[in-house]
Amino acid sequence: MRKRRLGRGVAVVGVGMTKFGAYPKEVRSSDLFVESFLDLKSSVDRGFSDEDIDALYLGNFSSDSFEGQVHLAADVVSRLGLAPKPAVRVENACASSGVAFREGVIAIASGIYDVVLVGGAEKMTNLETSEVTRVLGLALDPLCEMPSGQTFPGAFATMATAHMAKYGTTPEDLMRVAIKNHRNASLNPKAHFNASIKDIMKRRAESSIKKGLPPPQWKDEMDFLHDTGQNPYVAYPLRLFDCSTVCDGASCALIVAEEMAREFTDEPLYVIGTGQASDNPLQERLDLASFGGTPIAAREAYEMADVSPRDVKIAEVHDCFTIAEILSMEGLGFYEPGKAVHALKAGETSLEGKLPINTDGGLKAKGHPIGATGTGMVVELFKQMREEAGERQAKRKDLELGLMLNIGAHGTTAVVNIFQRR
Ligand code: COA
Repeated sequence: MRKRRLGRGVAVVGVGMTKFGAYPKEVRSSDLFVESFLDLKSSVDRGFSDEDIDALYLGNFSSDSFEGQVHLAADVVSRLGLAPKPAVRVENACASSGVAFREGVIAIASGIYDVVLVGGAEKMTNLETSEVTRVLGLALDPLCEMPSGQTFPGAFATMATAHMAKYGTTPEDLMRVAIKNHRNASLNPKAHFNASIKDIMKRRAESSIKKGLPPPQWKDEMDFLHDTGQNPYVAYPLRLFDCSTVCDGASCALIVAEEMAREFTDEPLYVIGTGQASDNPLQERLDLASFGGTPIAAREAYEMADVSPRDVKIAEVHDCFTIAEILSMEGLGFYEPGKAVHALKAGETSLEGKLPINTDGGLKAKGHPIGATGTGMVVELFKQMREEAGERQAKRKDLELGLMLNIGAHGTTAVVNIFQRR
């Protein structure tokens, strides 16, 4: 494949997001997006005029099913007071705003626009979980997976058992992802589950005592996560705490042509690589213990950026289920297949580690409002790489290269974006 290049450089100059969580029914995803945009405005050091924005690229999975509205990008651009600027809705399942971000980058690199607002929004909690599961399942293959009753917990459970069979991965390896990401989310006020597993254990113990029940005797977080009463199976081997949350939220980023970046801020993040790839549904894959599209998207992005996986200092990866974080770490080339679990066990991917991953709590605990997830990752990298992440700031000081991987469905879309601080 020919090495791809951006036609001109692109930089992120501001980011914004709502808190992820459950909002009342009357709050629409467009309301959430407006809130995230106001947050973005306060993040751009030298400010900007709304008039400067040339276009909007908005990631959204299914406002039609969740809210009964289809033409979301036009609604949002009008609510922002930006009409008649062009607005595009991007749908790539869970990778919708990761791809919207990339499309915005490509539009600026092509020279057609100079300043683009990219982001995503989703309002999922209007529906019961069973309905949410059905709507999410619309992103599965309609010929085999959907008619056979497949769901996303089921699809990722299949990949988890394949990884266990091939590499000896254990349920405890999966639990380590949940423990790390909940700990990070406990330091993130915008996380849906702003609580560590220890915090949750304490709350549940207090509630037992209040009900006059004997206090539970969990030795540690692992012991709690092995308690089927507290952490029931959703689809073996995945339990409740292996799953991302169903929630609402919006996130966005302002991206501009590189030569204009310093008009907005002295600390832009430069987009130096982007890649995207697709994969087949599960029944057509040769290996169920890996993501097929991720290494291809990553290679495109690494080659464009002239970097290797070893150069990445911090990453936001797609942990819609705990096994997905492990598949992401391996698919991106950070670790050999089967070896990511050792890095997790050694704490390499914690806030104190040499490669902090999902410092915001990830999809697992920050939350996964589908359309908002990809640009939510950009928000975190922007804050971490500018050392503005507060209590959850990663300990290593040289965060000059960051990467995000946003997966659509069970890996049928993969999009990777690489950022540099100069
Ligand atoms: N992790 C940890 N705890 C969770 C949780 C999660 N993902 N989701 C809910 N909970 C907790 C709630 O806080 C609540 O706790 P409480 O009783 O102490 O208040 C309890 O579990 C029940 O919450 P509820 O909202 O009724 O859960 P649910 O059974 O309706 O849904 C899942 C739980 C896991 C089935 C649902 O979150 C889910 O489907 N997640 C995956 C979403 C998905 O597939 N996304 C696409 C990925 S590709």
